[in-house]
Amino acid sequence: MKTLIIGIGGMTNGGKSTLSKALQKRLPNSCIISQDTFFKDDSVVPVDIHGFKQYDLLSALHMDRMMEEVETWQQDPRAFTASHTGVGQLLSERVDQQVYVLIIEGFLIFNHRPLNELMNKKYFLQIPYDTCKQRRSSRVYNPPDPPGYFDGHVWPMYLKNRKEMEEVVTDLVLLDGLTEREKLLSSVLEDVTADIEALRQG
Ligand SMILES: Nc1ncnc2c1ncn2[C@@H]1O[C@H](COP(=O)(O)OP(=O)(O)OP(=O)(O)O)[C@@H](O)[C@H]1O
Ligand SMILES: [Mg+2]
Repeated sequence: MKTLIIGIGGMTNGGKSTLSKALQKRLPNSCIISQDTFFKDDSVVPVDIHGFKQYDLLSALHMDRMMEEVETWQQDPRAFTASHTGVGQLLSERVDQQVYVLIIEGFLIFNHRPLNELMNKKYFLQIPYDTCKQRRSSRVYNPPDPPGYFDGHVWPMYLKNRKEMEEVVTDLVLLDGLTEREKLLSSVLEDVTADIEALRQG
């Protein structure tokens, strides 16, 4: 059995979850671990002097638990994938030909070095400020964004996190999140499929 770990990072509302779910549906033996499911409880996330909850920081996330989840996949990709997707292995494949794919998606996945180091391929979805603000305003988060949150917390933290990420990560594949969904999917799928084929051959 062989394995491939793909990171789908990017800014808020860049389209990470949409792309990840579409990829997962198309890639046999794949599953997703989503960073959004590891947020700490609201009661322990601090507020800044303006009263904005400091959610867009690594410290607002249980990264230790997220790493444990990834390790569980690494220990037995087949069992993990079967239990998370309800789909068993492809019986037609020879065991040594099987490639299990883990899709790790989230807005700060490349800022956590131990996670970052595990990824074979790193995609980063970016969109312009106006689109980001517009898409974000059409969503309802839990807890909901208070007035002024985008400009007071989300965008400045994105700029800070992006700068920190670029200081450590060099092998990002930048994706234009304005690209039509199907086109985005087919370009990433083509790229990943080539990696999977190379693993199979190798
Ligand atoms: N390629 C696309 N073109 C246009 N709209 C898109 C595209 N991809 C996603 N969207 C829309 O943008 C919004 C955000 O998408 P999605 O939830 O996938 O982003 P995300 O990066 O996971 O966001 P979050 O920061 O909340 O995790 C949704 O309303 C979705 O329908
Ligand atoms: Mg998402």
